[in-house]
Amino acid sequence: MSHETMSENPGQPGFSRRNFIKGVIAAGATVSASAYLFRTNIMGQSDGMAGAVERLITLDINGQQRRVDVMKNETLAMTLRYKLGLTGTKLGCDRSECGACTVLIDDVPHYSCSILTHTVRGRKIQTIEGLEAADGTLHPVQQAVVDEQGFQCAFCMSGFIMSAVGFLKTNPSPTRAELAHGISGNLCRCADYHKILNSLMRGAENMRNA
Ligand code: FES
Ligand code: FES
Repeated sequence: MSHETMSENPGQPGFSRRNFIKGVIAAGATVSASAYLFRTNIMGQSDGMAGAVERLITLDINGQQRRVDVMKNETLAMTLRYKLGLTGTKLGCDRSECGACTVLIDDVPHYSCSILTHTVRGRKIQTIEGLEAADGTLHPVQQAVVDEQGFQCAFCMSGFIMSAVGFLKTNPSPTRAELAHGISGNLCRCADYHKILNSLMRGAENMRNA
């Protein structure tokens, strides 16, 4: 008898060990993903999510119209990362403290972990994936970070870059102190702020020369 057709329950024709294992893996993956996305544990308990309903909305992200189902209490960070695959936006604290999740909304930096997705319909959202040009040329700030090797683990990097790009739109020629203040909503656990500022000051210079 082949492994594929081996029956572990003679009363259920077509039930094979391989199909059973596939089913367990699929179910486990579903439980894991939904537990993280909807903050529901595997015992079925949830944090006030009962009755939540998904609705289909359109978002303007990186110049594209993206249709997506969102929960009414789903954050933009969750939608970007886990429904649209834009994982360049990081989740650090998930509570408006670290800035790792920073994206631009109408050119202004925002913590995407603290904004409900349905509230940004009709707004222009830009993530780190949308910074480079269509031909793959890096944004001047991204290029400066590469050239200066400004980050260590780089978990905080995309948030810092998005904050800096947003700040430089309003102040293209900042002093070092002004830029430091402009990105003060972002934290780096590697604490390499001197090199980060070197990178972002060079990014400002690159933008002026672009
Ligand atoms: S993950 Fe949003 S501020 Fe930390
Ligand atoms: S470089 Fe590691 S958290 Fe900032």
